[in-house]
Amino acid sequence: MSKDIQSYLLGDKIFQPDYNIKKNNYFIKDLHAYESLCLESKLDPEEFWKKYAIGFLTWHKLFTKVLDESNPPFYKWFSDGELNVSVNCLDVNLTNGNANKVAIIFESDDGQIEKISYRELFVRVCKFANGISKLGYKTGDKCIIYMPMSIEVIIAMQACARLGIIISVVFGGFSSKSLQERITDIDASLIITADYQKRGGKIIPLKDAVDEALSIDTSNKIRNVIVYKRTDKDINWFSSRDIWMFDLESNQDEYIDPVFVNSEHPLFILYTSGSTGKPKGIQHSSAGYLLWAKMTMNWTFNANPTDVFWCTADVGWITGHSYIAYAPLSLGMTQVIFEGIPTYPNSGRFWEMIDSHKVTIFYTAPTAIRSLVKSSDLNKEVHPNNFDLHSLRIIGSVGEPISPETWLWYYTNVGKNKCSLVDTWWQTETGGHMITPIPGVTPLKPGSCSFPLPGIQASVVDELGDEVSPGKGGFLVIKKPWPGMIRNIWNDSERFKNSYFPDELKGYYLAGDGAQIDSDNYFWILGRIDDVLNVSGHRLGTMEIEAALVAHKLVSEAAVVGRPDATTGEAVVAFIVLKGKYPEKHEDLEIAKELRNWVSQEIGPIAKPKDIVFLENLPKTRSGKIVRRLLRLKASGQSITQDVSTVDNISSIEKISISF
Ligand code: PRX
Repeated sequence: MSKDIQSYLLGDKIFQPDYNIKKNNYFIKDLHAYESLCLESKLDPEEFWKKYAIGFLTWHKLFTKVLDESNPPFYKWFSDGELNVSVNCLDVNLTNGNANKVAIIFESDDGQIEKISYRELFVRVCKFANGISKLGYKTGDKCIIYMPMSIEVIIAMQACARLGIIISVVFGGFSSKSLQERITDIDASLIITADYQKRGGKIIPLKDAVDEALSIDTSNKIRNVIVYKRTDKDINWFSSRDIWMFDLESNQDEYIDPVFVNSEHPLFILYTSGSTGKPKGIQHSSAGYLLWAKMTMNWTFNANPTDVFWCTADVGWITGHSYIAYAPLSLGMTQVIFEGIPTYPNSGRFWEMIDSHKVTIFYTAPTAIRSLVKSSDLNKEVHPNNFDLHSLRIIGSVGEPISPETWLWYYTNVGKNKCSLVDTWWQTETGGHMITPIPGVTPLKPGSCSFPLPGIQASVVDELGDEVSPGKGGFLVIKKPWPGMIRNIWNDSERFKNSYFPDELKGYYLAGDGAQIDSDNYFWILGRIDDVLNVSGHRLGTMEIEAALVAHKLVSEAAVVGRPDATTGEAVVAFIVLKGKYPEKHEDLEIAKELRNWVSQEIGPIAKPKDIVFLENLPKTRSGKIVRRLLRLKASGQSITQDVSTVDNISSIEKISISF
């Protein structure tokens, strides 16, 4: 935790959108109400959370205890309560007037539209759950979901929740090797996948990757692979194991009793990168997680019954869990789910879809916005100014810092200067938004995620956990537990404690981000303080990529760092020492290509190094530690001006000049 955190150049312009925000019961109406709620949550946290847990969730057995702090940091919330997440997302909508309301508007890669009402979704979830149940799966079993964006992936997630089956959704862009590691780590007995996925006009195999993953570790416990048929293309079929999703659903009863689980029952495990070579299985609860996802959906997006919500994330990431698979359904919203990519068939796709589906709340990532800024500079026809977009009232950003320039472009061209722009800071581990503006309430500073939500005691501290003064950088921490927080790292409680609750930080949750608070109390996120990169909003561990690279037969040593990139935010740069001799000029391109493909195969295409630099040696301390800060400087094209007298092999990087 010794990385220097640079001061950030603070923007000073404040935007206060003047628009008539629609109100709902739980909406925070003004800054005064926001401050009172913050105070209320500090003065009597138990009462605060209890009020929301009762008001927001449907319980089978109401809890008597709000927070169990007997074994920190293994906090338990509402721990003697029982509920079912799918009841809270589906059954509740059958009796509150939403039964015939459209739950999901699905738009496929090639523009086909399919709509499903709450009642229809409920029936399909029940039929599918009946099918899974008849295959012998039950509460506590583990299921891997490896599917494209579709109505069917929501059905799969909700059906598992109905039965208390613990899921781990694996992003379709991960390789069979990554898939295998996750299957093994959670000891899964069921996989739900699709034959193929369609993205950007391409057809990408998914079932093949599953077959391959299962052949890597033949001691796996998988009994069935359920396959959603997305295309007419053939796939390999193992009749004793594989079953089509439509076959499993057909002739099943349209109702199945939900399994009521304890509040702390793991709803899902979602893998994310950390600072070691092995991804962490972030374990979330049922009640606390759903409560926080729903509360934040309400506060941050001011969710109203007439809204059409569109979150462009993939369900393979936490954003797609909280703000696609669970919270919008729990609030009876209509949402758009999109199979494709923002640039296909052209870069006007998002804007066209907002207009055609009359989207009112749009939630995307800075990386998508940056790429669309670039394409609309090149081709005026796809510029958002050519689209109406007047249905929008709130636009959101997530996953990485949004620069003030990108913020302004989004606000002006997409929000047409009238929408609230919510820059939401949160993480896989936090379950839901943590620091974010309240639309129409919080005055906005471009580039700042503004203030913590009520109930969230965020702060910026030094190495000893003491608060730093305004304008100074430090570690972003959350001082008190909250219901949506990570419960554990699957199979690794020690790592959970060490990574998130280090002894020296007074028991605070350490987010892994640097931040600073300005003199108006606005939070500014400065980026990761660990060896984690953020490439196109995807979290990648440098150690994970290094481990993949050194597993290649030609590689002796590898050091991976990030460098700034105008489109992807950060780009992966790999410094490689080959076994044997330094490559000749003509060889290096070939080897670099092979190594890129190798990483793609080992982890997934998202982890491919953008640049590969061959060195004779890596710069190291006398004790043999790679000096990554020098590599970071080199990778970002800066010269090395600091004292390097204690660094071995320094000549090997001094003599190379890198221009990207
Ligand atoms: O560094 C922060 C960045 O993304 C990290 C969390 O990544 P992940 O767990 O994959 O979740 C992404 C979606 C919630 C954080 O540690 N990050 C996320 N949101 C923001 C952000 N950085 C700056 N501003 C944000 N709004």
